[in-house]
Amino acid sequence: MEGKLCVVTGATDGIGRVTARALAERGAEVVLVGRNAAKGAEVCKAIHRSSRNGRVRFEQADLSSQAEIRALAERLAAAGAAIDVLVNNVGALFNRRRESVDGIEMTFALNHLGYFLLTGLLLESLKASAAARIVNVASQAHRGAQMDFDDPQGAKRYRGMRAYSQSKLANILFTYRLAALLEGTTVTANCLHPGFVASAFGQDNGWLFNTVLKVVMRLSAIDVEAGARTSVHVATSAEVAGVSGRYFDKCREATSSLASRDEESGRRLWELSESLTGHRY
Ligand SMILES: NC(=O)c1ccc[n+]([C@@H]2O[C@H](COP(=O)([O-])OP(=O)(O)OC[C@H]3O[C@@H](n4cnc5c(N)ncnc54)[C@H](OP(=O)(O)O)[C@@H]3O)[C@@H](O)[C@H]2O)c1
Repeated sequence: MEGKLCVVTGATDGIGRVTARALAERGAEVVLVGRNAAKGAEVCKAIHRSSRNGRVRFEQADLSSQAEIRALAERLAAAGAAIDVLVNNVGALFNRRRESVDGIEMTFALNHLGYFLLTGLLLESLKASAAARIVNVASQAHRGAQMDFDDPQGAKRYRGMRAYSQSKLANILFTYRLAALLEGTTVTANCLHPGFVASAFGQDNGWLFNTVLKVVMRLSAIDVEAGARTSVHVATSAEVAGVSGRYFDKCREATSSLASRDEESGRRLWELSESLTGHRY
């Protein structure tokens, strides 16, 4: 990965942190994106030390805010460098319905619209690379979910897990349509399930939820090192060169749900995302 520029979102903890470190260990220049500047500085320092790669830096952005995503994309594009890898990894689950600063339901804003807008704004920098990869971290949780186009933001009825599953389905629908759009360019787009990973995920949801989740994670989850493997594979492996529009699980291509392959849902989600972000590809 020497000479390549990689951007990893949600890189101050969990799967994103290990993904960023693994890319730095392979010699890439890595930009870590997160909302907490102090934590970002600490993580960069730790990655410098362990990877002996000084070309690792932090960019602060709350990725649920469209203004912050736009400002981040401007800063990244201002350097004029081609981006070789964009790992859209940020994601969270919200048990109680909340809204972003843009008045959009938080799960949809952060987990899906964040990927849609940042990718769209960085597309020219990605196209400037000889071979760029967009890696969207989705989840097995998409299985069983359907896009609720009558109430996509859970305004009438909200359940945290349902909103999360829908957002992860949206990651896959977005990836497939994006890959089709990028056909004939040097940019590929793939998505993946990292596994059930014992990370900091979901721990912002109150004492009871946190305790139950921690126990379940201790019993059945893989660690973050294993949890980052599929992201790193899709971002770096020679096997994945030129492969686009695929869903990966355990570093292998897998079949995502029927709902995630529904082209009409993909088209409607794309239109909705354009209208909620005001960004046209
Ligand atoms: N863990 C699992 O079992 C699992 C399974 C399937 C899929 N996934 C997916 O994997 C991805 C990573 O999850 P994880 O388990 O690594 O979660 P995590 O440990 O909670 O890490 C999430 C990262 O995102 C950052 N973040 C959260 N909200 C943000 C915001 N508004 N703006 C900017 N950054 C923000 C966090 O920053 P702070 O450090 O400031 O908190 C942290 O760096 C997510 O997309 C998730 O849906 C996870």
